[in-house]
Amino acid sequence: MPLVSPSIISCKLETLREQINQSEASSADMFHLDVMDGHFVPNLTMGPDLVRAIRMSTKLPLEAHLMVERPDKYWRKFSEAGADIFLIHYESPCNLQNTFKEIESSGKRYGIVINPDTDFSAVERYVPGAYIILIMSVYPGFSGQSFIEMSLENVRKAREFIDRNKLDTKIEVDGGINNITGKKAVAAGADILVSASYIYGGDIAERISILKKL
Ligand code: DX5
Ligand code: ZN
Repeated sequence: MPLVSPSIISCKLETLREQINQSEASSADMFHLDVMDGHFVPNLTMGPDLVRAIRMSTKLPLEAHLMVERPDKYWRKFSEAGADIFLIHYESPCNLQNTFKEIESSGKRYGIVINPDTDFSAVERYVPGAYIILIMSVYPGFSGQSFIEMSLENVRKAREFIDRNKLDTKIEVDGGINNITGKKAVAAGADILVSASYIYGGDIAERISILKKL
């Protein structure tokens, strides 16, 4: 049974707190915060102030998916705002190893993220020690895109690597997840499903419970 991490990118700001409370009451396991800077991806979303407000609305872990040009410069701001886990793209132009060390020594957790056109083998060396390997199943930037089936190959490779090396890194899949694609991701080895438009485009409780049973 997968864990479910609703992405609040599809919530309405006017009803954000209610949608968060409803998700938590419906057994969401954590929240996924899509941070975009208009440079690394062609879209702008939240800054630390919104994360601070979300922190006051829930006790669940908050994972910050940092789609920003320099995650090494900004993760601390989101940490101070209350985020617990920092998901950093392999494609980011920064020193990944140093950034991971800094996050770890601050007492927080990190994950490594790969885009659909990056092969899992590129990040193998970062997986031991990472709390999460996040496999993108869309090109980052927008919610509501279609699941890229080819990404399942990265999920299978990650599952094989983690099992063979007896690691406890969790495999998370993000982008275009619904009842059908989520099932394929879980069959390929996913531990955590991220979903925005599927969960918040319908009955929150029903959709979270469908994903949790895949
Ligand atoms: C894409 C984001 C995803 C996305 C999920 O850049 O990282 O978290 O918003 O949205 P859905 O579930 O609608 O594909
Ligand atoms: Zn995301």
